[in-house]
Parts: sequence; structure tokens; C-alpha cells
Amino acid sequence: MSFQLAVSETTPALPKSFELADAPLLRALRGLPVDHTPVWFMRQAGRSLSEYRAVRARANLFEIVRSPDLAAEVTIAPVKRLGVDAAILFSDITVPLAAAGIDLEIVPGVGPVIARPFRDRRDLERLRSFRPERDAPYVAETVRLLVRELDVPLIGFAGGPFTLASYLIEGGPSKTHARTRALMYSQPDLFRELLSDLAAVAVASLRAQALAGASALQLFESWVGVLDPASFSRHVLPATISIFDALRDLDVPTIYFGVGTGELLSRMAGAGSDALGVDWRVPMDAARARLPTGMAVQGNLDPVACLAPWQVVREQALEVLRLAGPRGHVFNLGHGVLPETDPETLRRLVDLVHGYEHRRARLTGTLVAR
Ligand code: CP3
Repeated sequence: MSFQLAVSETTPALPKSFELADAPLLRALRGLPVDHTPVWFMRQAGRSLSEYRAVRARANLFEIVRSPDLAAEVTIAPVKRLGVDAAILFSDITVPLAAAGIDLEIVPGVGPVIARPFRDRRDLERLRSFRPERDAPYVAETVRLLVRELDVPLIGFAGGPFTLASYLIEGGPSKTHARTRALMYSQPDLFRELLSDLAAVAVASLRAQALAGASALQLFESWVGVLDPASFSRHVLPATISIFDALRDLDVPTIYFGVGTGELLSRMAGAGSDALGVDWRVPMDAARARLPTGMAVQGNLDPVACLAPWQVVREQALEVLRLAGPRGHVFNLGHGVLPETDPETLRRLVDLVHGYEHRRARLTGTLVAR
């Protein structure tokens, strides 16, 4: 790998991490038995919450991320309002890219837009210079603030190398990721170098968050599901393995997530994370059948189901719980919370998941929830 680790590797605050070691989220990610299935929601700290919209009315996304007090406030809001088992750091997968000096803007309703898309080898230099403690010190500062405040685990995260490469190459969001795949096929060596540099950015960023006190780490490889399995194994898996390898000594559980990854799941399991995030297209029992026995799973209620009447949400959530089984399951949506979601639905979901008893459901042969 072409970066040098310059993070100050100090020990995270111990007392809190001792208490948190038994948190249901961390136990489930390690495949240990839990009193109740833990639940959190990807994008729980986003536009569905009035608390977030109020802060967002005063500051844009990057301004919030760069202000530890504001970022901590919006991270904590869903934990208080929804009663979830984990907080996810308020940030964005593009934050390290912007911090590395890439001219990047989050356009409301569009997504990340890059002024000068990646074209050749010379564009790798900026990525190589990324040092979290120098270029994005506010991230670790927010994490330290949060671990003092929270009594649930904090999840740190980074973007996966394919997903970040796609934003860099396309210059913005894309449905087909055509330029990305074209570069991958036509210049595989350059593509490999780019992914390796992005993997190094992810490692540096994730290590900095864990060392500041984050108790679990998620790699958001959201758009990797556009690839066929052979291309995934050849062009993306090596860089991804290097990420999870480089995190192993931290002893912090890891989650690897992508959308539309049904055909990739068994190969993604080889990347070395503790758990795999599964989207709503694959039933949880089918997902488990594609993974090594005992590997933890996270997901996978359709985020759109949360817009339906409660009875529908409830039935679908109970089915997710039943199919996933009692061990090694973190309940979540199959992708992020949609901005139009009523937070009350999410709050009721948390109660439903916490009250669900696998044993009773099995004995009565029906879907039972307290
Ligand atoms: O609550 C949380 O999950 C923590 C915060 C978080 C954000 N982005 C804040 C955000 C997280 C974990 C992310 C990850 C992220 N960012 C991903 C991976 C997860 C996924 O959804 O697949 C991706 C692909 C991005 C890139 C990105 N950033 C997109 C596609 C968008 C949405 C554009 C839009 O307006 O619909 C963003 C902007 C963004 N990141 C918002 C938030 C709350 C909304 C825009 C805003 O408030 O300005």
C-alpha cells in the first residue's frame, strides 16, 4: 500500500469501551447470543429527522461535519428520538476526498459532484497525501465528543474503494457507472492503483475513527452491485481485503455493505469483515445460505416499506427477523432511510425488534411480537 500511517496511535479511553463490550450490537456482530436483536438505521441521522433539518437550515453538510458540536448533535438526535442500539457518526463517504483537496460539492437532491473528474495517473497524487489527523482533525474530535456522551456504541464508517472511484471517475452520481466500468476494463492497472489508493484512504480514516473511540466500523461499498462476480473478484476484492486486513489489530467489529449484491455475497464474505450488510432484494435465509456458517448479517427491510401503513411495515419486519434467526443479526433497513420517512415508524420498528422473541415465534408457529 502506498500510504504511511501517520495517525497518532494512542489507546482509546478504556472504561467506556469495557462497558460497551457487552452492547447487543457488538455481541451480534461477533455472532454471540443477545437478549434482544440490536437495531439501527443507515441514514438515521438524516433528513427524515426535524432535528437534522433544523441544523441543516443553518449549515451545509460539510459545515456540519467540520463542526464537532453540530456533528455530535445530529449524531445523537436519532439515538434519543428512536431508541436505536447504535449511533452512526455524522459524516459522509466523500469527506476524506474533500479533505484531501478534491474539489467536491454535495448538491442537494443530486449528491456528490466533482469539479475535475479522475482521468489519469497524475490524479492519484492528492489521494496519496491524505492524513486524517492533519486534513480532517474534526472527525476524530467529533468521535471523542460522542463517546463521552453516548451510552450506545458509535459506528464509524468510510466509503468503499469502488464507490468512491465511481464518484471520482463519473464526476457525480450515475445509474450505470459506465465510465467507471469502462476504465476498469480498458485500464485495469490504473484502476487497480486507484482502488489501492482509495483503500489506503479508507484504512487511514477508519483507523483514526476507531482510535478516537468508535466501537464498530462499516465500509459503505454502496454501488459495487453493478459489477458481475468475476469483475468484482478481480478488480475490487483485493483492495477490499487489504482494508479489513489493515483493521484487524484494532479488534473492532466490521460490517461490509453494498446494494444489489445478491450475486456477490459469497465473494464479499471473503473480504474479511465480521458482518455483511444485505439489501432488501435477498431474503435473509437465502443470504445466510451464501455466507460461511455463523457469519453475522445486517439488514434488510425495504426502506420503501417504511412509507406503507404500519401493519405492512410490521409484517415485513417480522419476516426479516424470522428469516434472519436469533444469532448474529443486526436489524437495519436494506439501504438508507428515505427523507420522507415518518420517524414515528422507525421508533415503532425499534420497539418491535426489541420485543421480538425468536423462541415464542417458533413455538407458536406464528409471527409473535410482544
Ligand atoms: O445517518 C447516517 O447514516 C450518517 C450520515 C451519512 C451521510 N452520508 C450523511 C448525508 C452516511 C453514513 C452517509 C454515507 C453515504 N454518502 C453513502 C453510503 C450510504 C448509501 O446511502 O449508500 C453514499 C453513497 C454517500 C454519498 C452521498 N452523500 C449521497 C448519495 C447523498 C445524497 C444526495 C441527496 O441529496 O439525495 C449525500 C448527501 C448526504 N450525506 C445527506 C446526508 C444526511 C443529505 C444531503 C444534505 O443534507 O445536504
